[in-house]
Parts: sequence; structure tokens; C-alpha cells
Amino acid sequence: MEKISWKKEYEIGVPEIDSQHQFFVGIIQKINAAYANDCDKDHISLLIKELYKYVDFHFVSEENSMIFHKYPEYKNHKKEHDALLSRLAELIGVFESEFIDRIELVDFLMNWFVEHTTKTDKRFGDYTRLNN
Ligand SMILES: [Fe+2]
Repeated sequence: MEKISWKKEYEIGVPEIDSQHQFFVGIIQKINAAYANDCDKDHISLLIKELYKYVDFHFVSEENSMIFHKYPEYKNHKKEHDALLSRLAELIGVFESEFIDRIELVDFLMNWFVEHTTKTDKRFGDYTRLNN
């Protein structure tokens, strides 16, 4: 089983957001391990729901921080969050009606996480550090 781990390059330099991102990666690790341990579909489905709820919370938390810091890119960032969250909801639907294998699901989640974190979130991290 390929290893999912937290990397220094994921950090955006805002401790509260970085720790939430680490928690997010932790849920992906649990999903990955559940597949590897041949857990039943219902269990994996619940883990994906756990991820969804956490992502929902985390996005609102990040957006509140953007509002607090008067981040000029807030609207576009939020649009990206909304699109990611509905993509995740879609994925839950596909998982429940059919199935998604481990590599496809875990790769999707990690690619999405790395892409959003190292680009979009990183810009917000740079902004907060420069403006506070
Ligand atoms: Fe974000």
C-alpha cells in the first residue's frame, strides 16, 4: 500500500490552517488503511462522510479567516471551495451507487488536496503573513 503522509511543502505558514490540513490528510490515511484492511463498503462510506463533514467545516473556517483578514481574493477562493465540496458530494454518490477503488479515490483526494493547498491556500498564507 502506498504511503500517504504529510509533507513540509503542504504548509502554508498559518498554524491553524496547517493543523486542519494535517487532520484532513489523517482522514485520507484512515480511508487508505480501511481499503487495505478490506473493511466493508459501509465503513469506507462513513469515512468518506467524515471527510466531507471535516472539509465542510474546514472551508468555512478558512473563509472566516479570509473575511477577518480582508483577503481580496476571498470570493474566488470560496468559489473553488464550493466546487470542491460539490465534487466531493458527487463522489460520495458514485461510491454509494457503485464503488470506487482505493487508488482512484485516494489519488483523487490527495491530488485535489495538494493542488488546492499548495496553490490557492498558499496565496492566502502569503497574504496573511505579509499583511499582519
Ligand atoms: Fe482553501
